[in-house]
Amino acid sequence: MKKGLRFISLGLLLASVSILLFACGTGTKDSGSSKDGDSGKRVLKVGTDATYAPMELMDEKGNIVGIDIDIVKAIAEAAGFEVEFKNYGWEPLFPAVDGGEVDFAVSSITITDERKESFDFSDPYFAANQLILVPEDSTVAKFEDLKDKRVSVQINTTGHIVTRELLGNTSSKIVATESMPLAISEMINGNADAAVGDNAVIIDYKANNPKVKLKTVEDDSFEKEFYGLMVKKGNTEIIDMLNEGIKIIKDNGKLKEITGFDVD
Ligand code: ARG
Repeated sequence: MKKGLRFISLGLLLASVSILLFACGTGTKDSGSSKDGDSGKRVLKVGTDATYAPMELMDEKGNIVGIDIDIVKAIAEAAGFEVEFKNYGWEPLFPAVDGGEVDFAVSSITITDERKESFDFSDPYFAANQLILVPEDSTVAKFEDLKDKRVSVQINTTGHIVTRELLGNTSSKIVATESMPLAISEMINGNADAAVGDNAVIIDYKANNPKVKLKTVEDDSFEKEFYGLMVKKGNTEIIDMLNEGIKIIKDNGKLKEITGFDVD
């Protein structure tokens, strides 16, 4: 090989090595979609459905706030990372986690066996149960009473699942909406006889809308549910960070300070 050619091939080799190194560098940054914040701590992207007061909602300034958000911030502080929230809405949240657009989701997501087939969950951080919301003059006294009634729910939530079990999977009496406030509106507007959803959200709605004459109906048949942070299947690195933070805030009382009760 002539001297000149050898130089060119050496140059090419160096160029391809640096391209490779560069690609690896950016590759690491993109995977997990996280970057370092000003503090030098890792910033995790968090997806949510901010229509779920008091758990996750938008304040007047467009900031995502709520009990779930405070819990995640406390977990992040305890485990030494930062968080950046993005509102996706309920249904788009699942593909956002699965596709790696966000590192995890917080959205009062109940840990269920079915969801565990497609996602991983952190340890539980909040306990809940379903609650029925009806007009004040309704005769509904228990969940069974909804058997031949029209029931509104947020689509693909645990409220939707228990209602399907009672009314039948394909029942046309189930009014499944995109968000919980919409499900409640359907009931208030008379398109449904009752709305079924997570207790904290139903209680919050009733408390903040005293002019709308509503009452809540409890039922012992509703199983206790536990909320977890939802992560892409197999992402143990994130799960470990989240569980470390959850353990710390359970042990030091911070979680109870935010929620007002013990989870387990
Ligand atoms: N806990 C219920 C579930 O996991 C409802 C959660 C809905 N959350 C929300 N932010 N819309 O199915």
